[in-house]
Amino acid sequence: MADVYCDPRLRELAGARVLVTGGGGLVGSRIVAQLAALGAHALVLDRFDAYPHPVRDRFQVDRHAEKVVLGDVRERAAVKWLAGRADFVVHAAAYADVAACTRRPDTAFAANVHGTQTLLDAVVESPVKRLVFVSSAAVYGDGAPGGAPRFTEEQPLTPISVYANTKLWGEHQVRLMLGGTATGFSIVRYFSVYGDPQVPKPGSHSWMVPWLAMFAETGRPLRLNGGGRQVRDMVHVEDIAHATVLALVADRAAGQTVNIGTGIPTSVREIAELIAARYPDVTYVNTPRPEGDPRGGFADTRRAADLLGWQPTIPLAEGIGRYVTWLRTTPDAIPDWFTAMPATSATVLAA
Ligand SMILES: NC(=O)c1ccc[n+]([C@@H]2O[C@H](COP(=O)([O-])OP(=O)(O)OC[C@H]3O[C@@H](n4cnc5c(N)ncnc54)[C@H](O)[C@@H]3O)[C@@H](O)[C@H]2O)c1
Repeated sequence: MADVYCDPRLRELAGARVLVTGGGGLVGSRIVAQLAALGAHALVLDRFDAYPHPVRDRFQVDRHAEKVVLGDVRERAAVKWLAGRADFVVHAAAYADVAACTRRPDTAFAANVHGTQTLLDAVVESPVKRLVFVSSAAVYGDGAPGGAPRFTEEQPLTPISVYANTKLWGEHQVRLMLGGTATGFSIVRYFSVYGDPQVPKPGSHSWMVPWLAMFAETGRPLRLNGGGRQVRDMVHVEDIAHATVLALVADRAAGQTVNIGTGIPTSVREIAELIAARYPDVTYVNTPRPEGDPRGGFADTRRAADLLGWQPTIPLAEGIGRYVTWLRTTPDAIPDWFTAMPATSATVLAA
């Protein structure tokens, strides 16, 4: 992360005002912290209802943001006011959990579609120089049975979840509305984000590192949905935030869609094994693969290298080590609902 502060391209952000929607969430708060360290003034708009209070406090957004507005990205007046004062925008606000979007497509539509439209309406009438739209590798769809594909930005997109569909709509709408205007844009497709202080959300099947680490930390078997054969491209949240900040200013990223991943496929089983290496006597259980949970793949990283000059700096084993250390020193990070969850009746596998 030290490189973030040495990159001369980022000097443009010193003194700039950057609206970060969803700045109260995991990724948004890391982006806000990096912006503050670069001398930018972050304006945060967030509903602040994705997590309970103690989690929000750990994200420390109040410490790093110049202004924090509690509100919905669909609130036209607030969004217009903030966009009118911003030089740049990162649109990270979203109903960001795949399973929750499947359960509540209406809420997903409200936040991810209606909210994005409201923001774009305000941005086209503002002095904003560039908007970075936060999308997801979920737009690529399911992956392939028996092998992990390398996802390239130009390939056909076949989302298999409500969540992914809202992100695909957002990508198209950003292009349609900002193409040819004075406001530039970049679209970043995050692969699987992890890193402290990430915590799981109830009823979610995403975010394997916190789920598996918390199972291990509480002495439970590690649950492997679908046997853990799904493949993920795991990117540390500090690297993700760095890539996003670069996308605000990198000349060659203007008007482009860029994968933000490591290019390294890792199965969920392998992620579990990296965690298990830090806990003696761990066991595994096999549970069904949930609806909307893609088989997955990994990023083609050429554009990220060429257009952003970005590459990840935190290897997965190191990032998992940091997470486990954080969890051991922050035991109250394990939510009460997690501790209260009944033991699974699924088949116990050999460790
Ligand atoms: N975490 C991942 O693995 C991952 C992967 C791909 C893409 N993304 C995308 O990255 C972005 C950040 O995700 P995250 O992991 O930090 O999730 P998060 O839930 O921690 O953060 C999302 C934030 O958006 C806010 N929000 C939701 N709806 C809102 C609304 N209508 N108005 C205002 N604020 C609202 C939430 O309160 C929350 O603070 C999201 O757009 C998500 O879709 C995340």
